[in-house]
Amino acid sequence: MLEKKWWHNSVVYQIYPRSFCDSNNDGIGDLRGIISKLDYLKELGIDVIWLSPVYKSPNDDNGYDISDYRDIMDEFGTMEDMDNLLKEANDRGIKILMDLVLNHTSDEHKWFMEAKKNPNSKYRDYYVFRKPVDGKEPNEMKSTFSGSAWELDKNSNEYYLHLFSKKQPDLNWENEEVRNELYDMINFWIDKGVGGFRLDVIDLVGKEPDKLITANGPKLHEYINEMNINTFGKYDLLTVGETWGATPKIAKLYSNPIRNELSMVFQFEHISLDEIPGKTKWDLAPLNFIKLKEVFNKWQTELDNEGWNSLFWNNHDLPRIVSRWGNDSEEYRELSAKMLATVLHMQKGTPYIYQGEEIGMTNVVFDSIDEYNDIELLNMYKERISEGYKEEDIMKSIYAKGRDNARTPMQWDDSLNGGFSKVKPWLKVNPNYVDINVKNNLEDENSIFNHYKKLIKIRKNEDVVVYGDFKLLYKDHNSIFSYIRELNDEKILVVANFYDKDEEFVLDKSIKYEGCEILLSNYKDSSKDIEKINLRPYEAIIYKLK
Ligand code: GLC
Ligand code: CA
Repeated sequence: MLEKKWWHNSVVYQIYPRSFCDSNNDGIGDLRGIISKLDYLKELGIDVIWLSPVYKSPNDDNGYDISDYRDIMDEFGTMEDMDNLLKEANDRGIKILMDLVLNHTSDEHKWFMEAKKNPNSKYRDYYVFRKPVDGKEPNEMKSTFSGSAWELDKNSNEYYLHLFSKKQPDLNWENEEVRNELYDMINFWIDKGVGGFRLDVIDLVGKEPDKLITANGPKLHEYINEMNINTFGKYDLLTVGETWGATPKIAKLYSNPIRNELSMVFQFEHISLDEIPGKTKWDLAPLNFIKLKEVFNKWQTELDNEGWNSLFWNNHDLPRIVSRWGNDSEEYRELSAKMLATVLHMQKGTPYIYQGEEIGMTNVVFDSIDEYNDIELLNMYKERISEGYKEEDIMKSIYAKGRDNARTPMQWDDSLNGGFSKVKPWLKVNPNYVDINVKNNLEDENSIFNHYKKLIKIRKNEDVVVYGDFKLLYKDHNSIFSYIRELNDEKILVVANFYDKDEEFVLDKSIKYEGCEILLSNYKDSSKDIEKINLRPYEAIIYKLK
C-alpha cells in the first residue's frame, strides 16, 4: 500500500487566467478576477488550483513563453496581486500550483537576448545553438508548431533549437548552470507558499538534438531526480508532469515515491484515440470506444502501488470533452457531460477539472480564421494551405481539435460577453453563453455544476474511490462503460451508457452483494435492480454495494 498523501484525495481545478475573469475591463482575464471567484471554487469543493502561466511574457504562446520567471505579466496584475491570490486561496484551504515552463524560455528572456547579442557570453550555452550543415538547418527536427525546429540567428549565422515557436528557444539542460538557475527560481516560488507545480512538457528536457532525441532522453530521470532533491522534494508538495510520451512503465519511473521525482504525470494515451494513428492530431478519426476502455484499464491497473494517476478529459490544449466524446446537442448536452464526469471521477487517481468543464462548456465554431488566436492552429492553417489542403477540411480540423475551443472566455452569466468582461474580450465568447453559464448552473439543483460537486463529495466520503482496486467490466461492449472499485468490504459499481441508444446491462454473476444504494445518477429515477438495468441514453449510475 502507498503511503497516504494529501493529494491522493484532492481535486484540482485548472485556470487559464487570460480567459477566466476580467476585473478591470480591458478584455483580458487577470489575478484580481481569479481572487473574485475563489468562493465559487470553494463552493465546487476543489482543493487545488493549477494556474496556467502568469509570469512576464510577450504572449507568443499565451504565457508559455516566459521572459521573466520572477515577475507577473502586466495584463494579469502585479506581484502584490499574486501574493494576495496566494493568501486568499490559502485562507480558503485552497493550494495553488504554478505552471513551470522549464524546457524553453521566451526569446525576450534576458538570457536569450544576451546569448544572441554576444555569442561569447556564458548565456550562449544556456540554449542550443548549432552551425549550419551544408548551408542549411543542422538536421530535420520539426517544431510541434509546424516547420523546422531550427531558426537561423542571422547575427552569428548559427541556428538555435525551438521545439515550439521560434519565440520559444529551448534551454540546454546539459548545462549545470542552467539547471541551477531554474532550481533557484523554483525555490523562489516555494518560499512564496505555493502548493506545488505542473511541469510543462517536462519529458523533453533530456533531449539530445544531435541524435534527434526529444522526449524521454537518456538523462531525463537523472535531471528530474536532481531537481526534486534541490527543490520541491524537501516539502510536501504536489508535482505533476506533462508527459505526452509516457507509457505506464515510464509513468512509474516518474511517480514511484521511492524514486523521488514527481507526484504524478499527465499521460495522453486516451487523448490520442480520435486521430489517424501515426499522423497528427489534426487528422481526424472517430473515437475507438473499446480502445478507450482498454487504455483506461491499463493505466488503472498497471500503476498499482508503484505510481499515481492523474485523471482528466480537458485542459487548455484540448477540445471540450462534451463536444468531443459526449453530445453537445440541446437534448443530450447535460446528460452526456455528467456521464463523462462520472466515468472519469470514480477512477483511481487525482482528478483535474478544466475551467468551464463543470458547467458543460462546448467547442466553438468561428466563421473565419481571423477570429482565432492560437499560434499552433494558425501555423497549421498556413502550412496546410500552402500544401494544398482544402480550406474547408482545415477548418473542420480546427473545429474539432483547435486549442481555442478551450480558451474562449469563461461563461459566468447571460449578460454581455457572458459576464467575463464589459469590453470586447481578447478572444470571442462562445455565443451559447446565454444558455450555458455559471449563474444558471448555480440556480439548478440538477445542473452539471452540482453533479461535479457531488462527485467531489463522494471522493471525500468514500475511501474506496481513492484507494480501491479497479476492475473493468463489459470490456468488449460497444456502448457500456462499467467498472467496479473495491477496498476491503467496500464496493462501488459504475455503470454508464456512452451513447444515445438504450442498452441493457446485466450484472456479472461473479459480483457478490446483498443490497445496493445509488450514490449518484444523471437521471432522477435510475433502477436499483442491478441484476439487469435498462440504461437510457448517456445514463450513468454510481452504486454502493453492500
Ligand atoms: C505545453 C502546454 C502548451 C504549450 C506548450 C509549449 O504543451 O500545455 O499550451 O503551448 O507546452 O510550452
Ligand atoms: Ca483585465
